[in-house]
Amino acid sequence: DTASMEKLVSLCKRRGFIYQSSEIYGGIAGFWDYGPLGAELKRNLRDTWWRAMTREREDVVGLDATIIMHPNIWKASGHVDTFSDPMSDCLLTKKRFRSDHVDLQSGMVYRFTGATGAEDTKSDVPFAVLAPQGKPRESALKIAKLFYEQRGVKSPEPTGGETGEKVENTRAFNPENGAQLTEPRPFNLMFRTFVGPTATDADVAYLRPETAQAIFAQFKNVVDSSRVKVPFGICQIGKAFRNEVTPKNFTFRSREFEQMELEFFIKPDEAIEILTGAPAQAWSESADLSTPQPTWGWDLWHRYWVAQRTEYYNSIGLGTDVLDYYTQSADDLAHYARACTDILFKFPFGTDELEGVAARGEFDLSQHQKHSGKPQEYFDDELKAAAAKLTEEQKEAMIQKRIAAEQAKTKGTPLTEAEVRAWFDRLFKGFYVPHVIEPSAGLDRLALAVLASAFCEEEKADMNGKVEVRTLMRLHPRIAPIKVGVFPLLKNKPELVSKAREVYDLLKKHMNCFYDETAAIGRRYARQDEAGTPFGVTIDFETLGEKGEELKDTVTVRERDSNAQHRIKISELLGWLVERVQ
Ligand code: GAP
Repeated sequence: DTASMEKLVSLCKRRGFIYQSSEIYGGIAGFWDYGPLGAELKRNLRDTWWRAMTREREDVVGLDATIIMHPNIWKASGHVDTFSDPMSDCLLTKKRFRSDHVDLQSGMVYRFTGATGAEDTKSDVPFAVLAPQGKPRESALKIAKLFYEQRGVKSPEPTGGETGEKVENTRAFNPENGAQLTEPRPFNLMFRTFVGPTATDADVAYLRPETAQAIFAQFKNVVDSSRVKVPFGICQIGKAFRNEVTPKNFTFRSREFEQMELEFFIKPDEAIEILTGAPAQAWSESADLSTPQPTWGWDLWHRYWVAQRTEYYNSIGLGTDVLDYYTQSADDLAHYARACTDILFKFPFGTDELEGVAARGEFDLSQHQKHSGKPQEYFDDELKAAAAKLTEEQKEAMIQKRIAAEQAKTKGTPLTEAEVRAWFDRLFKGFYVPHVIEPSAGLDRLALAVLASAFCEEEKADMNGKVEVRTLMRLHPRIAPIKVGVFPLLKNKPELVSKAREVYDLLKKHMNCFYDETAAIGRRYARQDEAGTPFGVTIDFETLGEKGEELKDTVTVRERDSNAQHRIKISELLGWLVERVQ
């Protein structure tokens, strides 16, 4: 909800997680900076993703490509022609908005069910103005008046006025948040720049709107320079830029953001059929997704990656209670996509996309093959050997099956019979353009999700019955910016301070620690609670041996979430902490 979002944004600023970019100049919409804690948090998220996606896997390698690439890459990928959002202008405020962003769920709805004007081709649909709750009806009427005046039509009497009514198949105008008053028109989201000193049209280049394309463009180099064999993946983390028409919800939709993407290359199902002598395995209720099998078709690989990514989110503290899924219906899918499942997170402002896991067929590599003129095929010697054993009848049966499948396609351009035959001709020789499963996550969205799910206010009565609120960030120790706070009980006792410094020096080489000797110990704990630090180590008089030999060289370790305290030997402290933060 809005209140908890406001509290979160305020904590992020107060504690140094996230600031508005260029704030001293009034900020710049859609750009955000990460402060000392945010920078550490993002680094930890990057590291956990990188570790899970490549270091701990034998079948994925990494890439670090440039942000500006040859502009033809974006021609091939389709971004130059189709990477756009519908945009409209508001006649009242002169602002531009993403046309589909008018919030139809809130506010007062005034309907004008008469004719909406001669030039309006959708004149049979009612026209509604949404006045946000608490805003005068007049602002809605003013919008309507302008709209009708522009078309030279007398405005009909408004009806309605209900709150929160959903307006479907209706041109809705929101005088507060923006209004469609002009027809929506496509607006390309790529940031343009010029390479070199002449700045002519021939020098135009784009800031990448996704990291994925560099992976496709370098596919051949990776295959030729490392020992990868299909199925394998290439992953990348890096900045992406989109000139979003309406950046919103804090960092959720920004104009500069970071993506963490994997392109996982698999064999076409027909290759698996040739290699195994049976159709590629499709998903069923009994499918075991824990270990990939050479018999898996694209469908199982797609489900496998949704499961893997869910496991990753669980490992950093995002459980099934905060996650959800949305699987696009066959009708909604882009023509080149075979399936797409969005992994959603329950943000305070609503459940929305954290990551998309798409099965993209051979679309991307084929496009680059076409546009660059360089073959993007992969050679599979085992496939060649297996295909050599097929009879002509078996080959023809496979070809006929594919021709029938192409003819049944309702989207895109189906392959002609000649194209199908040419494709099988290459396949039987061991060559194919690999198919792709793409789990694509946003690092900033993930940071926002973990911050939102960690944010917690606990009410506790003190000894006098006065209720106090403890704000804490229950960040998983693996991603917490600071792993441990080190505190001498008092700062004016040199023995306590020097012992605490010793403990800090011991730990800081292994994890991010924070040394703090200012203020009362309770205040120091509270600060670290808000920073999300899972452990606090206090050096007290027991540590110095003043309360008996038995407790000498032990420290108090306090746990953030439970407030539980443990007495631990300094010699065992590092091991105790490492076990919990890695
Ligand atoms: N290569 C596929 C691709 O880029 P996408 O759904 O456009 O797919 C993938 O983006 C992810 O990148 C999203 O799920 C989201 O986490 C993140 N993302 C996309 N646009 C963003 C934006 N404007 N601000 C923050 N994150 C964004």
